[in-house]
Amino acid sequence: MECDWDNSTSAELGILVEPGTQRRGIGNTALAQVIDFAFEEAGATRLWVGVVSSNAAALRLCQRVGLVEKKRVPDAALEGGHWVDHVYFSVLSEEWRRIETVQKT
Ligand SMILES: CC(C)(COP(=O)(O)OP(=O)(O)OC[C@H]1O[C@@H](n2cnc3c(N)ncnc32)[C@H](O)[C@@H]1OP(=O)(O)O)[C@@H](O)C(=O)NCCC(=O)NCCS
Repeated sequence: MECDWDNSTSAELGILVEPGTQRRGIGNTALAQVIDFAFEEAGATRLWVGVVSSNAAALRLCQRVGLVEKKRVPDAALEGGHWVDHVYFSVLSEEWRRIETVQKT
C-alpha cells in the first residue's frame, strides 16, 4: 500500500497485491483497513484512488470497498503508445462512516 498526502488531511492511496495471491480478498481487506486507519488514526478527511479505466481489477476493488467514482478524465496518460482514461474514486470520512454502518447492518 502507498499513501501520499496531498495536504495535511487528504491523501492518495495506491495498492499492489502480489500477482500470485490476487483474487483472494487481500486487496479488499487491506484497502478497507488502510482507509479505516487513515480516517480513525491518521487524521485524514478525504482519500482518493486514481485508476486506469482498463484496469478491471482495480475498478472492481474500489467499487467493492465502497469508494465513490467522482471523475473520469479521457486521454489522461500515454501508456505503451496509447492514450488511456483515468477514473478517480474518493471517499470523505463522513461517507466512510455511513458505508461502514450500512455494511455492518
Ligand atoms: C487491484 C488489486 C490490488 C486487487 O487485489 P486483489 O487482492 O486481487 O482484490 P480482491 O481479491 O480483494 O478482489 C476485490 C474485487 O475485485 C475483483 N477482481 C479482482 N481481480 C479482478 C480482475 N482481474 N478482473 C475483474 N475483477 C477482479 C474481485 O472479484 C473482487 O470483487 P467481488 O468481491 O465482487 O468478487 C490487484 O489486482 C493488483 O495488485 N493489481 C496491480 C496493481 C494495481 O492495479 N493497483 C491498483 C491501482 S492503485
